[in-house]
Amino acid sequence: MNTKQNVVLITGGSSGIGLAFAKKFSSEENKVIIVSRSEQKLASVKAQFPQIITEAADITEEYSIANLAAKYKDVNILVNNAGVHHECSFRNGIEDFSLLRNEIATNFVAPVMLAEKFIPELLAKKNAAIINISSYFGISPKPSAPVYSATKAAMRSFSKSLRMQLRGTSIKVFDIVPPIVETPLTAQINPNVLKMKPEELIEIAWKSLIKDKYDVYPGLSKLFYVLSRVHPRYLENKVMKTTLNEKNP
Ligand SMILES: NC(=O)c1ccc[n+]([C@@H]2O[C@H](COP(=O)([O-])OP(=O)(O)OC[C@H]3O[C@@H](n4cnc5c(N)ncnc54)[C@H](OP(=O)(O)O)[C@@H]3O)[C@@H](O)[C@H]2O)c1
Repeated sequence: MNTKQNVVLITGGSSGIGLAFAKKFSSEENKVIIVSRSEQKLASVKAQFPQIITEAADITEEYSIANLAAKYKDVNILVNNAGVHHECSFRNGIEDFSLLRNEIATNFVAPVMLAEKFIPELLAKKNAAIINISSYFGISPKPSAPVYSATKAAMRSFSKSLRMQLRGTSIKVFDIVPPIVETPLTAQINPNVLKMKPEELIEIAWKSLIKDKYDVYPGLSKLFYVLSRVHPRYLENKVMKTTLNEKNP
């Protein structure tokens, strides 16, 4: 993939992995638009990086997605990054189902709708890409976050089908599969858990983007992937022991 002279729209670009991606794309001669709900977070990014275009929108709202696609027709790279994470127990009962509904809407429905709305314009570009951010819990689920894990497994499957459907077109489809990364999403995790820095994740992802390596497994994600192929039961037990009753993404 050509990593310069693009117009890149990043959902959830106001913090964490999305912000690190925005900074990297911006520093490499690309025009960058970031989308997030909080005007405050966007203003803080704008103050530090005035060249980044900010757009306040909630991607769980269908009209917001349609507005973004209509307003930014020059986008040739869509980064589906925005995500939320909730722990819940089906054994103890779900107190507030709206949280889970929002989790599915943000992590899975929105990227699908964004892809649908942006693809017609992307197809008209000489070089285009959809970069989806899933999670290593999409490889082997985290029992304390079953809905989060399911949305990430769904994203991995969606990326694969989309890549096959778009073969032979100008659109390349990437799936970046982060391990635990130090962001606001993981702020409550036990500090002894090793977290990758967002900038490190992006450097690894960047090398894969340049080489058109479509599935990107940084750090521990690689081990997750290999174990899921050769010893899935061992991986499931290991994930269960290390994450149950712990606050992890
Ligand atoms: N951190 C990790 O360890 C880890 C590991 C694996 C995968 N991931 C995935 O990586 C992605 C980024 O996570 P992160 O750790 O960087 O999280 P983060 O720092 O909490 O950032 C999440 C971003 O998404 C935005 N967002 C959330 N809901 C939104 C909505 N409805 N509409 C628009 N924007 C929305 C947030 O901004 P607003 O709140 O202003 O909307 C924020 O910019 C997520 O998909 C996450 O699942 C993270």
